[in-house]
Amino acid sequence: MKHLLKISDLTADEFLYLLDFSQKLKKQNKEKTPHPLLAGKTLGMIFNKSSTRTRVSFETGMYQLGGYPMFLSASDIQLGRGESVYDTANVLSRYLDGIMIRTYKQSDVEDLAVFGNIPVINGLTDEHHPCQALADLLTIYEHIGALKGKKLAYVGDGNNVAHSLAEGCAKAGMVFSVANPKGYECNESIIEQAKHDASETGGKIEVTNDPQKAVFGADAIYTDTWVSMGQESEKEERIKTFMPYQVNKKLFSYAQPDAIFLHCLPAYRGFEMTADIIDSPFSAVFDQAENRLHVQKAVLATLMCGEPK
Ligand code: CP
Ligand code: NVA
Repeated sequence: MKHLLKISDLTADEFLYLLDFSQKLKKQNKEKTPHPLLAGKTLGMIFNKSSTRTRVSFETGMYQLGGYPMFLSASDIQLGRGESVYDTANVLSRYLDGIMIRTYKQSDVEDLAVFGNIPVINGLTDEHHPCQALADLLTIYEHIGALKGKKLAYVGDGNNVAHSLAEGCAKAGMVFSVANPKGYECNESIIEQAKHDASETGGKIEVTNDPQKAVFGADAIYTDTWVSMGQESEKEERIKTFMPYQVNKKLFSYAQPDAIFLHCLPAYRGFEMTADIIDSPFSAVFDQAENRLHVQKAVLATLMCGEPK
């Protein structure tokens, strides 16, 4: 494992190893046992989109691992003024031990990994959000006690978060059932790859336009904003299209009686879910947010402990 660009790049064993390592680091963190695995190492964090959780959890995580996190706003560095990804990757590789990047194009993240010689971590692109899926599956494991054979239903936009969850569920041998409105479905090739990966782990990927069908018998129900970063001009149209996909008490009643609710946050009450769902005792959204810290520390320590490639 040299980078974390998308979940489907990992083997099922690597994926499960990261979840296991995350639990160990979480325990050490709770017990206040120092774990300076990245002492003397520097992580550059390039942000080309807004963030609360990703920025704060990566920054805190590097600090807890004894390393140094460097925030790099894309609008402040020369990348934002047109310096090439090739030159940026080569220059940053001379200073840093790793790069976390949040940006629009997945290809920019992949290019950064190819052109540089230090580990690259995808902190969200238009297509993928791998750190989120790791945190989400750890949260499901903690709440439900198992992953294999459990059913996660995702209702809403077929976006970056949905893609990484499909890939993660495939690696973990879970059933991933996704319901999107027509025209807002997940990327077909990502779903095909996830179906292939699921066939090797005993998992299953189901795709529908019917939210009730997706949610039926689910152990966890997940939704995300209907308007992702960069789609602000489509807001009105999206709200109209997605309203039948709102996660509310009625939709929730089709899931298992002890099903949990998940959301990557930021959330918009009254839109993708009602307040009585996200603010209920069966909502695990803040556990998910916390687990971003622990899984990312596992990713950082796994990728950055060794010598550069
Ligand atoms: N879930 C998530 O990635 O949140 P931020 O956009 O706040 O980083
Ligand atoms: N789908 C959302 C996730 C935010 C963490 C977006 O891309 O804006």
